[in-house]
Amino acid sequence: MRFLKFRWKLLILSIYITIASGNFNERWPHLSNIRSSAAPVVQAAAVQELLGRLLPTRQHEFEIHVDPLISESGHETFRLLKRPGDRQVVVTGNSGVAASSGLNYYFKYLCRCQVNWEAHSQLNLPSTLPIVNVQVTSLDRFKYYQNVCTPGYSFVWWKWEQWERHIDWMALNGINLPLAFVGQEAIWERVWISLGLNQTEIDQFFSGPAFLPWNRMGNMRGFGGPLPRSYRENTLALQLQILDRMRAFGMTPVLPAFAGFVPKAITRLFPSANVTSMSRWNNFQDEFCCPLMLQPNDPLFQTVGEKFLKEMVNEFGTDHIYNCDTFNEMSPSSDEEKYLIEVGYATFSAMTAVDPDAIWLLQGWLFLHDSFWTKERAKALLTSVPQGRLMVLDLQSELNEQYSRLDSYFGQPFIWCMLHNFGGTLGLYGAAQRVNQGVSEARLLPNSTMVGIGITPEGINQNYVMYDLMLENSWRRGPVNLTQWIQGYAERRYGTKQEHAFIAWNFLLNSVYSFNLTNVKVRGKYVICRRPSLKLKPLIWYQPLSVVKAWDSLFKMLPKMKYSLTLQHDFVDVTRQNLQLLGAFYHSQIVRAYRRKNLTKLLENGHLLLDLLTDLDSVLECNEDFLLGKWIRDARSWGESKAESELYEFNARNQITLWGPTGEILDYANKQWSGVVGNYFKPRWQLFIQSLVGSLASHQGFNQSAFNKNVFQSVEHAFVLDRTQYPSTPSGKFWRVAKDVYETWRPRFNSNALNFLTKAIIKHPNCACFTAPCFWVQLVLSILQ
Ligand SMILES: *[C@@H]1O[C@H](CO)[C@@H](O)[C@H](O)[C@H]1NC(C)=O
Ligand SMILES: *[C@@H]1O[C@H](CO)[C@@H](O)[C@H](O)[C@H]1NC(C)=O
Ligand SMILES: *[C@@H]1O[C@H](CO)[C@@H](O)[C@H](O)[C@H]1NC(C)=O
Ligand SMILES: *[C@@H]1O[C@H](CO)[C@@H](O)[C@H](O)[C@H]1NC(C)=O
Ligand SMILES: *[C@@H]1O[C@H](CO)[C@@H](O)[C@H](O)[C@H]1NC(C)=O
Ligand SMILES: *[C@@H]1O[C@H](CO)[C@@H](O)[C@H](O)[C@H]1NC(C)=O
Ligand SMILES: *[C@@H]1O[C@H](CO)[C@@H](O)[C@H](O)[C@H]1NC(C)=O
Repeated sequence: MRFLKFRWKLLILSIYITIASGNFNERWPHLSNIRSSAAPVVQAAAVQELLGRLLPTRQHEFEIHVDPLISESGHETFRLLKRPGDRQVVVTGNSGVAASSGLNYYFKYLCRCQVNWEAHSQLNLPSTLPIVNVQVTSLDRFKYYQNVCTPGYSFVWWKWEQWERHIDWMALNGINLPLAFVGQEAIWERVWISLGLNQTEIDQFFSGPAFLPWNRMGNMRGFGGPLPRSYRENTLALQLQILDRMRAFGMTPVLPAFAGFVPKAITRLFPSANVTSMSRWNNFQDEFCCPLMLQPNDPLFQTVGEKFLKEMVNEFGTDHIYNCDTFNEMSPSSDEEKYLIEVGYATFSAMTAVDPDAIWLLQGWLFLHDSFWTKERAKALLTSVPQGRLMVLDLQSELNEQYSRLDSYFGQPFIWCMLHNFGGTLGLYGAAQRVNQGVSEARLLPNSTMVGIGITPEGINQNYVMYDLMLENSWRRGPVNLTQWIQGYAERRYGTKQEHAFIAWNFLLNSVYSFNLTNVKVRGKYVICRRPSLKLKPLIWYQPLSVVKAWDSLFKMLPKMKYSLTLQHDFVDVTRQNLQLLGAFYHSQIVRAYRRKNLTKLLENGHLLLDLLTDLDSVLECNEDFLLGKWIRDARSWGESKAESELYEFNARNQITLWGPTGEILDYANKQWSGVVGNYFKPRWQLFIQSLVGSLASHQGFNQSAFNKNVFQSVEHAFVLDRTQYPSTPSGKFWRVAKDVYETWRPRFNSNALNFLTKAIIKHPNCACFTAPCFWVQLVLSILQ
């Protein structure tokens, strides 16, 4: 019966999709022309090889086909068939991505497995593969992935091995529109040289590898550079491999286009060029700040734009979609609508001059970030390009959607994106309810121009559960029951049905993953990760006790499953979350003791905090996903000389700490990794406690600015210059350390700590205002209780 009902639903679903997609092709003729150039056999072979990498011993139990005709609309469609008695599962997709998503669908829902983006997947298939007969079509034409910052925060040191695994993950999760930004500096260099710039001038422009995204966006120049020639050449070769593989799966890689940012030296060659200096970004000093922006109405704009695109398309080929962000975190130099129309038109023309089928992909962050963008101004820019030729990434739809304010981008197609992470920081966090509901609601809005879904994290490798939940949206019309869904997730993740796992994940779902505050920015700024001060406040939007209980449940699973790398990862991650909370409590106690001039109490809590950081460092050291040593090893491995390796290590260490020569964006991309906690966070707190003790002894008030100078010199800057080597493989003492750390710190969640943390929970901003009626209702309720 259930199966029958399921079939009915599928039938209704496919009718709905056929109608919807018929409209799609008529409505977006240019978008519906976007097709992979790889032949079906090439795509099928790519999926076959993916299977070989994932399941070398069982790949013969699957038969892979790619047949574009099984989908009329061009939306990704797959069919899975295994009848009783069949020896193989036949997987047919209309593209390589579709067939791969079919495989993943089979792994997830029929075999209860999980392929995640860390190296440890759970792929214990049943010995006899389950029978199956389904056909599924994606509701969305496009599934987009990446933020222009992800190549900086997460992929910067990756070689082909990591890329290959990650592209497999994209295919399995239905991604068909990935950004492909690697290696573009080699192309830019050719453009600059052909215009007549010399090497000195180019070197002053390109930043080091870890900062390239912000160099490309015109935010800054030269910092962490000069960019070695070997890096440009090796990333160019890497990009060719990446593009080949993406295309073999039938994906449409998105390439960059010229947004107007040029080296300062351009004025030596073109003294009359109409350029404006970019405004100073995050206080970067002159040496590193303010590249020029060439005005789009200057004919030189077309020249440079065309040169770049030609050179790039020659080298990389093209799939006709280009990303270009002129005003990312930068206000336009004029607020006249006429100017904005010119900018849009010029940007688009520079693309179509080289590629008549070009489609412009714009990150919609500007509309959200900058109050400059009133409805009228946004409309001027968005409608300067023919309908259907500009596609907008609605960048953080789960919390700050702009498509309703901007009337579905005035008719331009948009993609609903989850922007779940900033700076690649760690921390359990997610807006699960919103992600669960928002996508289907947006599809159903009257006159919605939504054409896809996407994930746009600045950095990856945290909160895998959220990405898993988000990407499933392309297969389902409405929200799921999250309570049931999270149980399925836990089962797939660990490969077993376990009461403790259900309890743990249910607690996490209803706490850290129930974020729903649109005015509060979660940017990884946990107390222990920040530069010490008397003023820090914890950022908590959930019941802390729930995360402690999740920790208890995971701990109970450990004795039987000590060797599950996924469980180890999750235990370490939840331990990290809890110790971070406790650290915030000790900080509050230190501040209190200092204000009351109680030296005993100050020292007592100071020791606790430092011990906690020591233990946090050792528990992180037990899992390969939390190691500074790996980040530095990978960075150094790009060097072809000692000097190059040194430069890369500087880049790697600076990005996750000072972020800039003197802490311009201090700790924005901080990492709760072993090595960082022990040798960066901890010495800062040590110095802070010493300073407070000194201040009590000398009866002189604590001087924050003197402390800042001191901590910069003796800890932060020193850390960036230091060359201590850290382990790049886990310590191997997981069970002993995990047990020890849990047993030491779990009892420390006493009523004092829990009371403090519970009181710190942020209230919904709607209620923060005294005039709001709900404030008075809450007040009365709290008195009555
Ligand atoms: C590049 O040009 C600048 C300005 O003319 C000059 O100062 C510099 O020495 C030149 N560098 C090289 C490597 O030619
Ligand atoms: C430069 O561009 C700005 C903005 O479009 C325009 O107002 C100005 O007239 C231009 N200047 C020249 C010299 O063309
Ligand atoms: C988020 O909070 C708002 C205001 O309290 C509420 O109206 C809304 O239903 C919540 N959304 C979700 C998905 O929980
Ligand atoms: C949808 O589009 C139609 C036709 O352009 C228009 O009449 C209608 O007002 C629109 N509805 C909304 C809610 O914008
Ligand atoms: C979701 O599932 C849980 C567990 O099966 C059930 O108790 C709950 O009532 C369901 N919620 C809704 C809204 O259906
Ligand atoms: C100082 O703190 C200690 C330990 O927390 C406590 O026992 C003592 O009473 C405090 N002293 C004063 C004067 O408050
Ligand atoms: C605090 O330190 C700064 C920098 O060292 C110094 O300029 C300032 O005078 C100090 N303030 C006080 C009140 O001592």
